[in-house]
Amino acid sequence: MERFPRLGIDTCPNNLIASRRCDEIAGDGHRSGRLVQMTYELLTLERRDDGVAVVTLANGKVNPLSRELLTELQRAADELAADLPGAVVITGGDRIFAAGADISQFGGPDEAAVIGPLFHAAIGAFASLPRFVIAAVSGYALGGGCELALGCDYRIASERAVFGQPEILLGIIPGGGGTQRLSRVVGPSRAKEMCMTGRQVKADEALRIGLADEVVPPDELNDRALALAADVAKGALVAQGITKRVIDAGLSESLEAGLALEIDGFVEVFGTDDSQIGVASFLEHGPGKAEFTGR
Ligand code: COA
Repeated sequence: MERFPRLGIDTCPNNLIASRRCDEIAGDGHRSGRLVQMTYELLTLERRDDGVAVVTLANGKVNPLSRELLTELQRAADELAADLPGAVVITGGDRIFAAGADISQFGGPDEAAVIGPLFHAAIGAFASLPRFVIAAVSGYALGGGCELALGCDYRIASERAVFGQPEILLGIIPGGGGTQRLSRVVGPSRAKEMCMTGRQVKADEALRIGLADEVVPPDELNDRALALAADVAKGALVAQGITKRVIDAGLSESLEAGLALEIDGFVEVFGTDDSQIGVASFLEHGPGKAEFTGR
């Protein structure tokens, strides 16, 4: 089984040199990848040879999304946007994907006015990457953890995963996009029920209501997420980016306006190399044989 890198979590101090050392001493999963950015302290970013970038939250046992981690997430997304991979996987700890906002950093409205925008910026930066972004959720994804997963394009959950927006139990509301993205994914009534009661949803229910897109046994989660991401990374990447942009933009538009966006994207995509390659390959060799360049 291939493993995500867990640099800096258990065996390594959170610094650049230690991460490099861990890469050398760890198992096959580490050696198959290439670390290009090692200035993060609360997450790791691995760029693999198959075009997949893996972001792993590494902020202690419960991965609270502190101001500092949110800032690093934003920086990681910016780094990926500047040099786009083929696909992205975001993952967290085995038992806890992320326990949500760092509650110890809460205060009054002044603090909230800083923390809320940090959440929106960090999650929005991943949501707007023109690549397929997969959340691999192994355990609890609560509050901001659920919101981070919702900001991804696709959620693969282990059978042990638990999702929830428990903010109401603190007397507050979601501030990382939960009220908006959850309602778009599961519908407004379920989103209201989850956000207004704080009820947590296990993997099987998450799958049923569309909050998880796939549920797999815990020991298959990493392999499945990496395999899907690697497969997507071989595809027509510019066309994928246009697809994501049109679907996401259309969700906040009328059907007519969304269809107009689609036409614009449809015209634009015929200007890519991959559209020429894909069409020519189909005509010559039949479906599914094209080897795309990502341009
Ligand atoms: N922010 C800050 N600290 C948190 C945290 C959070 N979101 N979630 C957990 N912690 C801390 C706990 O206070 C505890 O600290 P301590 O060891 O100093 O006492 C430690 O992490 C472990 O938490 P604990 O609840 O004992 O672990 P658990 O394994 O029993 O449960 C969770 C894990 C994630 C299910 C549970 O901690 C939880 O529900 N967390 C809050 C989730 C939440 O409300 N998120 C929304 C925030 S707006």
